[in-house]
Amino acid sequence: MHKTYINHSLFALTERKTILRQIPMNTIIVGAYWGDEGKGKIVDLLAADSDWVVRYNGGDNAGHTLVVEGKKVVLHVLPAGVLQGKNAAIGPDVFFNPESFLNDIKAVEESGFRIKGRIVVDERAHIIMPYHIMLDGKNEEKTGIGTTKRGIGPTAKDKAERTTDLTVSDMIHSGFREKIKQAVEAKKDELLTKGIMKSKYESEGYAQKIYETYSQHAEKIRNYAGESTYLLNDEMQNGKTLLLEGAQGSLLDIVHGTRPYVTSSNCTAGGAAANLGINTRKFKVTGIAKAYPTRVGEGPFPTELGSYENAKKEEKGKPLTAAERKKALDGDEEILGRWIRQDGAEYGATTGRPRRTGHPDFVALRYSAMINGTDEWAITKIDILGGKTFKAAVAYKKNGTTTRKFPFKLEGWQPVYGEKTYFWKAMTEQDCTEAVKKGYDALPQGMKEYIKEMVRYTKVPVSMVSISPQREITVIKDVLKRTSEYLK
Ligand code: GDP
Ligand code: IMO
Ligand code: MG
Repeated sequence: MHKTYINHSLFALTERKTILRQIPMNTIIVGAYWGDEGKGKIVDLLAADSDWVVRYNGGDNAGHTLVVEGKKVVLHVLPAGVLQGKNAAIGPDVFFNPESFLNDIKAVEESGFRIKGRIVVDERAHIIMPYHIMLDGKNEEKTGIGTTKRGIGPTAKDKAERTTDLTVSDMIHSGFREKIKQAVEAKKDELLTKGIMKSKYESEGYAQKIYETYSQHAEKIRNYAGESTYLLNDEMQNGKTLLLEGAQGSLLDIVHGTRPYVTSSNCTAGGAAANLGINTRKFKVTGIAKAYPTRVGEGPFPTELGSYENAKKEEKGKPLTAAERKKALDGDEEILGRWIRQDGAEYGATTGRPRRTGHPDFVALRYSAMINGTDEWAITKIDILGGKTFKAAVAYKKNGTTTRKFPFKLEGWQPVYGEKTYFWKAMTEQDCTEAVKKGYDALPQGMKEYIKEMVRYTKVPVSMVSISPQREITVIKDVLKRTSEYLK
């Protein structure tokens, strides 16, 4: 892991711009696994060449971390392109927490960046209300999905149910107070049963309290509210470029993910088309494949290293001893999982929970490529695997059956690992700077072996290899060319 920030290389920047110009302009970014793949870093990087960056799904359950000019900024609602001074849109299918949105703006400004572009929040986006957040917390006690408790599920439920839902449009127009009252009245029984309201006589006062807070947010949000579907289609028509920033990961998709341990929105590239009302045939799909999968919250995870229970008990940030590292190299999975978690700082950007870590899973990646129509991978955090030994799942088995397909009910399936064990020496800061400058060929041989197997298995080439949280420390030169050769 990089403890200090490497100086930006001017050469790397020029090189990157030349190479990015060869890539088609409109891009959809999707997470390949269960989220936290480093989408934020890649979106921030690619935003340099986009006119608009657009969030199309999820809500403030997302946490996208950007490291730029030695500063770290975590965004939950605002798309990452704002640090590059680009226009930003929040689409109509985003679950919108006004407070988180305003906090994101504050976080950007407090970090010393200026928001230079336009920000448009689609008026049709559904707002997350305080009772949604409380209901999420209460429901969790029973369901044990391990949600982020940001109110996503309850807001999605109201949206689908269509009678008590509230939108940004409702929030900024007259009659908002009345609409909150009606919603609270309609949901009174549930709010009482779950202890969110103490008595049925309280509902009017409860609604009024929400109104007082939310009407203040409304005043701050009014100027951002607008319409994004015509806007973005018109912009594309006029030759402007769009970068669509997915939140969560494909395996958390409400339809194609590991239900019920999923989120409440579409996290795939197809979801972008549906959510924004845009012709995604004009887009390239880049899947963000973290070099190893992680998962926060509950749910099946075939290649998991160690157990979630133990991960929760671990002391955060405690370095491994030399003896422990040796054990991990000799095959101790529990310790390897911890080692990856510590080196990769695998703690939730939204909830601070430890992320479960696993061996790479080619079965999951191939499935992810299929359901998204992934054109290319951006591999992230591969630096974290340096100096460690690991394997990659190439099939799953259960009760004497073996499959290369990702089972819809993943519970109980065990990984079947490929014969290869991967290892390369950890890259130094100088190695990283060199690799950015010289390109793919300068990456460690063992790393390239791993990438080759991943490309061959998934039949998708790689366009960039991220080896640091920092924007510039990303290898692009020759990556697509070389990894496409693996497919010949
Ligand atoms: P997202 O939700 O997909 O945007 O990912 P998160 O921001 O939640 O988690 C990814 C974490 O890894 C963040 O802390 C990033 O700063 C960091 N990161 C991204 N790419 C790299 C990389 O290539 N190497 C390392 N070491 N860290 C990275
Ligand atoms: P980014 O965009 C990782 C997970 C939660 C839980 C499940 C349902 O940063 O990759 P929810 O609160 O959405 O109802 O929780 O989905 N989850 C994420 N995991 N990264 C995310 O976002 C996530 N957003 C939701 O941990 O398992
Ligand atoms: Mg995240």
